[in-house]
Formats: sequence, C-alpha cells, structure tokens
Amino acid sequence: MRTEQGEAAVGDLLVVDVGPVAHGGHCVARHEGRVLFVRHTLPGEQVRAQVTEIGPGGRFLRADAVEVLRPAPARVAPPCPWSGPGRCGGCDWQHVGLDGQRALKRDVVLEQFSRLAGLDLVAHLGRDVVVEAVPGDRDGLGWRTRVEFAVTAEGRPGLRRHRSHDIVPVDDCLIADPQVTGTGVLSGSYPGATAVDVVAPSVGEPVVVPVPDGPVPVLQERVALADGDLELEVSARGFWQVHPGAARTFVSTVLEWLAPRTGEHALDLYAGVGVFAAALARRVGPQGSVTAVEGDRTATGHARDNLAQFASVEVLRDRVDRAVRRMARSGRVTDLVVLDPPRTGAGRQVCRDVAALRPRAIGYVACDPAALARDVGYLAEHGYVLRDLRAFDAFPMTHHLELVAVLDPP
Ligand SMILES: C[S@@+](CC[C@H](N)C(=O)[O-])C[C@H]1O[C@@H](n2cnc3c(N)ncnc32)[C@H](O)[C@@H]1O
Repeated sequence: MRTEQGEAAVGDLLVVDVGPVAHGGHCVARHEGRVLFVRHTLPGEQVRAQVTEIGPGGRFLRADAVEVLRPAPARVAPPCPWSGPGRCGGCDWQHVGLDGQRALKRDVVLEQFSRLAGLDLVAHLGRDVVVEAVPGDRDGLGWRTRVEFAVTAEGRPGLRRHRSHDIVPVDDCLIADPQVTGTGVLSGSYPGATAVDVVAPSVGEPVVVPVPDGPVPVLQERVALADGDLELEVSARGFWQVHPGAARTFVSTVLEWLAPRTGEHALDLYAGVGVFAAALARRVGPQGSVTAVEGDRTATGHARDNLAQFASVEVLRDRVDRAVRRMARSGRVTDLVVLDPPRTGAGRQVCRDVAALRPRAIGYVACDPAALARDVGYLAEHGYVLRDLRAFDAFPMTHHLELVAVLDPP
C-alpha cells in the first residue's frame, strides 16, 4: 500500500538493512532516503519491516521487524511468548542476549553524550562504559517488584501494546518478581478498574491495588547499606526503584563518590521518600544538616516520617526549580548535592542554580541518558566536570537503564 505521493504507508512491508541502535528500544534503518525506527531487530540484521506509524510531518517511519532475513549473532529466542511485533509492549530486547542488551545500552549512552553533551565519554573517562548488572539480578528476569497492569473493559488485567492503548491479555510476565504474579493478579477480575498495581516490597507481603478506587497501603522498604540498614515507608503507588538491588546500589555509589564528612550540609533534590537524605544524614551527623526537596505531597509526608529521627534534616515540599532559585538568590551555599530527577531531567535553570550553591560535589542519578547528558552539558557551562559515571542495567529486557554520575567544581 502506497500513499498518493508513492511513499510508504502504515502496513507496508519493506526489506531493510538495519543500522545502529537508537535511544528508545529500536534501531535505525533507511528506505528510499527516509529514516525508519525499527523494533524487534538488531544492528547488522536484514529484516522485512512492517510500517506501524508515520512520524510527524512524515519525517520518519516506525516499523516492526516481522521477518528476520539475516540474523545478528546476539539474537536469541525470546524467553517471553508475549513479546514480539504487535504483542506486549513492555519489553524491547527480549530477542537479544543479556550481554548484547548491555552492549546496545552502552552504545546509546555514548551516542547521547556525544550528541547532547558534546562529550566523548570513553576519552573523557579514560575507559569504556560498561553497563553493569544490578547485584542480585537473575538472568534479567523476575526483577520487577512494582508492576502496573492495565485492565480491559471486561475487568481482565493485561499489558499494553507498544505505543497503544490496546491491552494484550497475558498469563504471566517474566520480568515481574515472582511474588507479583504469585498474587494471582493475572487470573483475577477487576471490573471498574482502569489498572491494577501490584507491589512486592522488600519487607512484608505483596499487595494488589485496583486503580483508581482501591485503598493504597503504605509499605516498608529496607535498604541494606554498609553502615546499617535504612527502613523507609513508601506509598504502594509512590516512587520507589523497581529492581530489588537498585536503591542500595545507587545510594552506595553516590555515597562513595560524594564521601560526605561530619558537619557538612547536603541537599537531596527530587528526594522522594528521602532515601538519599537519610543516608546522607547518617554521614554528616548531628553537626551537619540535610535539606530534602520533593514536590509530591504524599512522598513528602512519608519523607517527613522517614527522616524524623534525624534532627538535622529539613524536608521542603516544593518544586525543585523554585527551591533552588530561592537558595541561589539568597546567596546560600552547600557542600553536596544529590540530583535524582524524573525522566525529563533537572534542566538548565536548576543546573545553573545548583552550580551557584557551589557544592564541592554533585551526585546525579538518572533514568534517562539523554536527560543526564543534557544536564551534564548545562552544569559544564558553570564549570562542573564529570568525574565518574556508572551505568546499571536496572531494567533488563527493556531499553531503560540507570546512570549514576558525579561532577566536581572547577
Ligand atoms: C526519580 S524519583 C527519585 C526519588 C528518590 N530520590 C528515590 O530515589 O526514591 C523523582 C522524584 O522527583 C519528584 N519530582 C518530580 N518533579 C519534581 C519537581 N519539579 N520538583 C520537586 N520534585 C519533583 C517526584 O515526585 C519523585 O518523587
């Protein structure tokens, strides 16, 4: 099927040679001069790709590889029977071995830093970037402790098709923690619900929360750090890292790099329920102080409870941009900053105001390499230099990863 202009249309089948991986779980190919973002393939493959979407203004096409004509060596049989073209959209890389997935994620990180921060990461760090397994990972499966299942009009839970509101009924989800599926959620019926959240916390039993009307329990999460466990309350629908080894790994890495000293002041920006603030508060001690800034009302309430034991911690419910603007304008300074923003990143203004507080180090936890690369570029405008970076495969089988970085002042 062709458009009137003779260009490819949705549903067309095109034979393409697949080029490099791009951010978002797809690879780049070209057809008659147009860019195609192709899912379910790998660099170096030749595939028959079915066009699924025409991008805005026809500038690019999206497509699914529906037949592999020349497979790449990293291709494997997907462990999940619900993955693949037109099926569940939750995973991007089920058809790639774990080492291959991590190599693709590394390439995306390097490409994003080169494009958005103007930084050759390998040359800058003087070593390659290795995407590491999160400690405790089991073959990239069974890690997801928080899953939101979509619910059909008939009340049946399932997972969404890629870039679609359609719901694919599934009997299992292989990346979910077995405790999540062990609740029986997938054989349950939730009439009237739009979604059902299932959470397997590190302390206590898993919970099933129909959305929007189910009661939302408060859960306990334990984070085992070298200087003792932290235990924090968190809403079943609030933000918490989903890989069971993630919070400990990211907090330990940030602490190691920031090396907080007794008596210092630290800022925990985008603090959630206060896990970084709590870890920092223990290190700076009662002679020091920590300010946690979080915008969400429920998370702030939990942060206040979680941090009540530290007399030197202040929790501000505010937008980070407003809070740091105020601090910078008042001439305040700080020793350490932790930034853990949502996927959009902190942005230019927050980076400028954070730099104005003249911290001796900035720890940055990022779920999007593009956002981190952009913010590293903004912080560089104020002299802050990337000292180190680690990449963690906190979301195996998907294109997502988590980066932890540290920046130093000029
Ligand atoms: C990636 S989470 C990190 C939470 C926490 N640091 C943790 O590790 O559990 C980002 C947090 O930033 C909060 N947030 C998002 N945008 C914000 C803003 N503009 N101002 C303040 N908080 C914001 C969200 O509510 C969320 O709790």
